[in-house]
Amino acid sequence: MPDPNAPPRRPTLTGGRIRLAPFAARHLTPDYVRWLNDAAVSRHLEVCSCGHTLASVTDYVRKTLADPNEHFFAMEDPDTGRHIGIIKLECFQAVHERGEISLFIGDTSRHGRGIGTETIVLVAEYAFGALGLTKLVSGCYSVNLASGRAFEKAGFHREAVLRNHYRCEDRWVDGWVYARFAPGRAPEAQAGNRVEEGACPPSP
Ligand SMILES: CC(C)(COP(=O)(O)OP(=O)(O)OC[C@H]1O[C@@H](n2cnc3c(N)ncnc32)[C@H](O)[C@@H]1OP(=O)(O)O)[C@@H](O)C(=O)NCCC(=O)NCCS
Repeated sequence: MPDPNAPPRRPTLTGGRIRLAPFAARHLTPDYVRWLNDAAVSRHLEVCSCGHTLASVTDYVRKTLADPNEHFFAMEDPDTGRHIGIIKLECFQAVHERGEISLFIGDTSRHGRGIGTETIVLVAEYAFGALGLTKLVSGCYSVNLASGRAFEKAGFHREAVLRNHYRCEDRWVDGWVYARFAPGRAPEAQAGNRVEEGACPPSP
């Protein structure tokens, strides 16, 4: 008889440059804690860049894995299996058919090599395919140009600007909301993939 308290099973998603494995105990490493405390990684994340411990991260991971709405993956180098980051898809599935993506590549030597884009594409395919979601969103700081660009390359468009939404390095910065609709699903929602000229002004 299956254990009712066991976390939901997730697939492994495999791309050319990255493998997304369901997050497991082997991914809970001092490296993961160090990434969260490293401002170079987390200064544009909603977690603060300090004070994370193995205990606090373990607690967060335990809660995330127990939540059936969370799909939590470790990014692994497909050749070596090395854990280099995480991506999380939080689903508001039952009613809104929507998911929200957040990610980071903790190993900064891997930034700017197309891995973030491929990771987002893999999760979008999973969300629209296996999970049957209609819309994906992700929020990023307006100063996080690498993130915005990665989402754009993964087929997202900037849907909204949230003025002075985040506090970043002692100043307010806008929030950008990126969105993508599932191809071929909910035709009335597809109009959301087109942003009207001027509807989404650039940040100053
Ligand atoms: C954001 C992040 C996930 C992107 O992943 P990545 O693998 O580095 O991104 P990619 O290589 O796929 O694409 C990045 C794009 O941004 C561009 N870019 C990077 N820095 C840039 C900058 N300062 N200005 C403009 N463009 C920039 C790159 O040139 C590339 O575009 P191109 O292929 O057209 O040249 C990764 O850098 C990361 O984890 N950063 C730290 C945590 C974080 O910010 N997470 C996201 C929170 S929303």
